[in-house]
Amino acid sequence: MRRTLIAGNWKMNGSLAANSVLLEGISAAAPTDCDLAVCVPAPYLSQAQAALCASAVLWGAQDVSEHESGAYTGEVSASMLKEFGCTYVIVGHSERRSYHGESSELVARKALRALTTGLLPIICVGETLQEREAGLTDAVVVSQLAPVISAVGKQLADVVIAYEPVWAIGTGKTATPEMAQQVHNLIRTTLAKTSVDAADVVQILYGGSMKPDNAKDLLAMSDIDGGLIGGASLKSADFLAIASAVHAA
Ligand code: 13P
Repeated sequence: MRRTLIAGNWKMNGSLAANSVLLEGISAAAPTDCDLAVCVPAPYLSQAQAALCASAVLWGAQDVSEHESGAYTGEVSASMLKEFGCTYVIVGHSERRSYHGESSELVARKALRALTTGLLPIICVGETLQEREAGLTDAVVVSQLAPVISAVGKQLADVVIAYEPVWAIGTGKTATPEMAQQVHNLIRTTLAKTSVDAADVVQILYGGSMKPDNAKDLLAMSDIDGGLIGGASLKSADFLAIASAVHAA
């Protein structure tokens, strides 16, 4: 039985004062029947660690360098994230793919760097509206997964995949539970071609306008094992309401 993971992606939002309220609100009422995590901007990792270390809530980062260390100005290494107690790191978010030109091969190298350093990568895949309308959703998702599957090899069971249709991110338009389930099933079937055992345990999260009012129906689908939440992760009440939908699903 896969455990549900509700992970917040704060993106480039927050301040010391606002984070403090948010982290306290989340940790004070965190449910125990699912895993809860927040992926915060790198400068706030120390704050998240201090606020959450005595709670069941996990934390992580939003990106990581493919390199171990060295002359890579502006980059943050996996071992640095590890030093701040991160469990997770998001890699290949569509905002990084589109604004920073990240290829699926680079995303795969970042995922491997995370895994070899003891971090669990949350690897994002998903099609644009244009690709969906052209009937290319399955092909796009499979091609984004392929380099990851070949790079991570035997550690496939330790990755988390997030299906985030680009057209649903921050738009208020969400995939229907059936649309999301179809792609989640495709992802699991694709992973199973490499390892049936790994495919069975990998958590596949849905991301894209997941809110308290649609979370229950999405989380009720058999291959949706949680959510990667953007906007609604910035208010503790909304984030916790999504987490309690796990129970209701
Ligand atoms: P929204 O929940 O704001 O649509 O963002 C989803 C997302 O990009 C999470 O990584």
